Amino acid sequence: MSSFVASSAADRSHIRDLSLHGQGEKKIQWVIGRMPLMRALQEQFEKEQPFAGKRVVICLHLEAKTAYLARVVQSGGAEVTVVASNPLSTQDDVIAALVQGGIAAHAWHGASDEEYHAHIRAALDTHPQLIIDDGGDLITTLHHERKEQVATVIGGCEETTTGILRLRAMERDGALRVPMMAVNDAYSKYLFDNRYGTGQSVWDGIMRTTNMVVAGSTAVVVGYGWCGKGVALRARGLGARVIVCEVDPIKAVEAVMDGHEVMPMREAARHGDFFVTVTGNRDCVTGAHFDVMKTGAILANAGHFDVEISIPDLRERAVAVTDARPNVQGFVMADGRVLYLLAEGRLVNLAAGDGHPAEVMDMTFALQALALRHVAQQALAPGVHNLPAELDRRVAAMRLGADGRSIDELSDAQKAYLAGWSHEA
Ligand SMILES: NC(=O)c1ccc[n+]([C@@H]2O[C@H](COP(=O)([O-])OP(=O)(O)OC[C@H]3O[C@@H](n4cnc5c(N)ncnc54)[C@H](O)[C@@H]3O)[C@@H](O)[C@H]2O)c1
Repeated sequence: MSSFVASSAADRSHIRDLSLHGQGEKKIQWVIGRMPLMRALQEQFEKEQPFAGKRVVICLHLEAKTAYLARVVQSGGAEVTVVASNPLSTQDDVIAALVQGGIAAHAWHGASDEEYHAHIRAALDTHPQLIIDDGGDLITTLHHERKEQVATVIGGCEETTTGILRLRAMERDGALRVPMMAVNDAYSKYLFDNRYGTGQSVWDGIMRTTNMVVAGSTAVVVGYGWCGKGVALRARGLGARVIVCEVDPIKAVEAVMDGHEVMPMREAARHGDFFVTVTGNRDCVTGAHFDVMKTGAILANAGHFDVEISIPDLRERAVAVTDARPNVQGFVMADGRVLYLLAEGRLVNLAAGDGHPAEVMDMTFALQALALRHVAQQALAPGVHNLPAELDRRVAAMRLGADGRSIDELSDAQKAYLAGWSHEA
């Protein structure tokens, strides 16, 4: 299936096909044209060399925007290795272009569970000093299987909500032994990436995979966090009736005020044409829900792991499973209804699309690059660290500047007014 390719970075890589590099390079060049913040950081890092001589492992969804992040980190003097954070989101041509450009990679699209974990171990074999993780599989493997390597890790950054939940659980248990920056928790990340990035790219993934009309349909969005708000907003924009399922009463009220219907999943299951889970939790759509769904219902997940829609329950009920279209499996129920699962229940926007738009990832990856530089320079204590507010504001300001927009500034009198309490004239 895969090949162990020979030559420079290729000697250190496990990828599918190096000859795909031309096509991958085109994809990378396309996104570079849309990532002005990263271009500015690349220029700065080339001069400042903040990662000079450091070994860095980047474990993310491996597509064109991530490839550019890897190159920007490499421009800062690092020896970079990339590895997939999800076996279905890897784009083999993009990986080939990275390897051709001197970055080692361990990943191929559709890797089995065993291969996926072998790739993570191969990346850890490079003895990274800095890491970027997405979802926590790299950091947990480091702590479980490579205890002897932990001391040489200066620290790292975590990309997503689920990864930060895992890091905080490790910290609570006294198990986290390296400093990790919670990049997801920066305003410039979740307000834009989780909301607008996921909102747009989830529907892009669903539409390009199914070629179905969304207008006039009923979309059930499970989870009304930052991602769910975006998915619901864009569903409504496409003309769908939106039902939100939540477990948090505050988020549920927010959904109501935003103009959506709110009901428990056991009721929503009867209505939906599209179901999108985006909770970071397991078993949100299960057997009892499948039993009452309409035939033709589309099941898609946008949460980090493929546990939100219960695939075991779906399999248990199916009398047959068909490959209806690429990335679409039809589960035929005993009563003849067919429920369609997209991208094997993995993140639909990445496994059945190209992920977030480049302009959104420009901000997220600018945060990643600046956070990694912060970790490299600050000798932080083990634990989960929030990004300094200054970095967060700087990225937002860079975004405005790149768009040619400017905003007002506080005068000294206004600053004094906001900082004071007597409010005398
Ligand atoms: N697809 C992508 O590109 C992408 C991008 C960013 C984050 N994510 C992932 O998406 C998931 C959600 O991220 P987020 O930032 O929106 O998190 P969040 O914490 O802001 O929101 C999650 C919401 O789900 C709700 N929830 C939990 N269990 C539920 C259940 N059983 N039923 C209904 N609602 C439930 C919570 O109350 C919460 O409001 C995470 O796994 C995250 O890692 C995916």
